Order: sequence, then structure tokens, then C-alpha cells
Amino acid sequence: MQYQLPPVWTKLYRHAVFPEFSHDERARYNFLANLNRFISTVIAPGNQIAFQNRVKPAFEKEKGRTFANRHEVAEAMSKDPVYQSWAALRRCTMEMRQQNGRAVVMRQAKELADKVKQYAGDNLILKKNFKVPEYLRHVDNHLMPGSYHTSYFEGDVSNAANYDSGLFVTSGGMLGSLTDGGGKAIAKWVKEYYPDFRPKKILDIGCGLGHNTLPLAEAFPDAEVIGIDAGEPMLRYGAARANALGVKNVKFIQMDAEDMSEFEDETFDWVQTTMFLHETGGKAIHKIMKEIGRVLKKGGLCLHIEQPQYTPDMSYYEQFMRDWDAYYNAEPYWGHMHDLQPEDLMAECGIPKERFMQIGVKAVNDLDTQKKDDKITEDYGRTPIWNVFGGWK
Ligand SMILES: C[S@@+](CC[C@H](N)C(=O)[O-])C[C@H]1O[C@@H](n2cnc3c(N)ncnc32)[C@H](O)[C@@H]1O
Repeated sequence: MQYQLPPVWTKLYRHAVFPEFSHDERARYNFLANLNRFISTVIAPGNQIAFQNRVKPAFEKEKGRTFANRHEVAEAMSKDPVYQSWAALRRCTMEMRQQNGRAVVMRQAKELADKVKQYAGDNLILKKNFKVPEYLRHVDNHLMPGSYHTSYFEGDVSNAANYDSGLFVTSGGMLGSLTDGGGKAIAKWVKEYYPDFRPKKILDIGCGLGHNTLPLAEAFPDAEVIGIDAGEPMLRYGAARANALGVKNVKFIQMDAEDMSEFEDETFDWVQTTMFLHETGGKAIHKIMKEIGRVLKKGGLCLHIEQPQYTPDMSYYEQFMRDWDAYYNAEPYWGHMHDLQPEDLMAECGIPKERFMQIGVKAVNDLDTQKKDDKITEDYGRTPIWNVFGGWK
């Protein structure tokens, strides 16, 4: 088996509000990105071998039947030493990634807040008495202390800066130099497949710091793009980052997606979410779907980039492996969200089954040298296909 290295962390584009890194801090991120890649490509396949050769036969012998769902697979695999080792390594890498990023941004929190102030503009609306949704408030999503919404002082952006610099480690550099590969891919796909579509208003829900919002604004410069999110530091940092990168047709608004009543009915030509739905609570996701259906124009486009849903054609073993985040990565809504069937979710926002679509969108990664050179000298990772579902209302 050929082991392929991720790109070096220094290939990330350091825009004007990006945190500063010392030699050792960069080295730590590089070590962790490599460890992550090693665990996911060299160690992880051992789980399948343990399952096939040991865990499944033992379960079937004991019960006289095979697995009935992924939870039974999880229960049986949790006792296996290969799974235990892989899961523990993966968890430790995530904790180390969060702690490295956190140490970096905390030591320069004031300087970061000042840089963000310098790039502040009129593209940000924060709400004084904003209530972070209950389901978000108590979760340190993917082990990020304080998650997306915690500010440690007025104007603080440290959690957003941690997210911006560290996602590279978790994704093994597959998201490109601005961590915007998802947004770039979907914008490219929409332009290619629907060349006559000229959206005037685009909404990105759960936009975070705008990694995947800015590519929409850049691809459709005549459109007004609005990103909404519950996390104040993300929005504050995101608005300054957009200004630093010179993207002008985008605005960041603090809003709970469960109640978008400040937008009138049928406001948007396109509603997009990227890696958002799996972080929404069990009841919230249905409220959000209803709100999307309300604010999306008739004939408008709705697309969601997500990890694949657990459909009946996915094996219980694959469902179980994909469910790791729900158990060990502080993603408490992950399992529930992935159990929902995408056609049903889209029906909730007014997209009938005959107009439902599920597609694989080829990733865009400007750090991937494979495409430029037939003889691969450096491979910056698998070329992922983004799983996207949605449709036209
Ligand atoms: C995994 S992040 C994805 C960020 C961004 N879409 C991206 O691709 O980088 C999920 C985001 O959803 C936001 N979020 C979760 N529930 C929300 C809600 N009810 N209303 C607004 N934002 C929400 C979180 O604050 C977080 O920034």
C-alpha cells in the first residue's frame, strides 16, 4: 500500500486576520495532520478485518443471527482491541489538534481582536440579546472548547481563529488553501449544470466564519449573499476575513435558523447549507426545514452538503464506522440526523420527491497537485466527492 502524505500546513493562505504561528506550533499541526492521515489510511482498515474475521463470526455464533442495526455492531466492536486502539488514537489526535489551536489563539487573543477590528466594516449584524439555541449551548462541538459561540471578552474571536487554522488538520488539507473546497465545488457545479441560473439573493445557513460562503459570493458577484450563524466570534471573524479577502457582496447576520422571521417569505433564490445539518438538534432540524421552505422562492434551489445519510442500502458496518463522531467527537445529533432520509427532509421544505436530487460533486482543492502532473510526486490526498442533496422548489 502506498502511503500518501497530506500537504504541509504552511500551504494554508494566511489572510490578514489569520493567527500568527511559531515554528513549533506549525510543526505540531503538521505532525497532527500526518498522524490523522496515518490513522485514517493505515490503521482504520484494520477495523474491517477485525469485524469480518473476529467480531461478526463471534456475534453470529452467539446469537444465531446476524446484526440487526448499527448499534449492535457498535456494541460488539467496542470490545475489540483493534477498534479500541483506532478510536482512542483518533480521539487523542482530535484533542491534541484542539489544544494546539487553542493555545495558539489564546496567547494572541487581544491582537486577533485588534486585527479583526481593523478589518471591520458594515457587513456584520450582531444581536445584543441573542439567545444561542439551547441544543448548541452545552456542546463543545467536535471537542472544541466553548464551541462556535463563546467569546471570552468583548470582541474576542479566538474560537473562530482556532477553527480557521485547525480544520486543515482534521481534513488532512483536502479543503484547499482557504479551507473553502466545499463552497468552491458547489458553486462550480451549479454554474456548470445550470448555466442560466442567475441567483439574486443567496442564503448560507450555519455559515460559520464563511469558509464556504465566500466562494458563492465570488462565483455570483451580482448576487447579494447572506450568511447566518448563531456563533458571534465566527461571524465577527468571518466578516473581517471577507473584508481582508476583498469579497464585498456578502453580509454576516447573527440569527437562529429555527426562526428566520426577519426574512420575508420567498426572499431567496438559493438556500445553501454546508456541514451544518448534522449539528442541529433533533427538533430544530425540522423547524429549520420549515423555515427554509418559507424563505426560499418558488422555483428556487436548495442544497445541503453533508456526509451521507444512513439509507437502507448502507451496510450496518459502514453506518457504525460513520457514527464514530456521535460517540467520541462531541457530535450528539450526528446519529439522529443521519438516520433521517434526505427525500423526507426535502419534502419538509417544500421540495417534492420528483424534484429531489442527490449528487456527488467533485471536490475542488487548489492544493491538489495530482491534476497538474501525471507523474504524481506529491499526493495531497484522495480527491473527495462531496455528498449533496436538495432540489428545486
Ligand atoms: C460545522 S459548522 C459549519 C460552518 C460552515 N458552514 C462551514 O462549512 O465551514 C456549523 C455551524 O452551524 C451553526 N449553527 C448551528 N445551529 C444553528 C442555528 N440554529 N442557527 C444558526 N447557526 C447554527 C454553528 O454555530 C456553526 O458555526
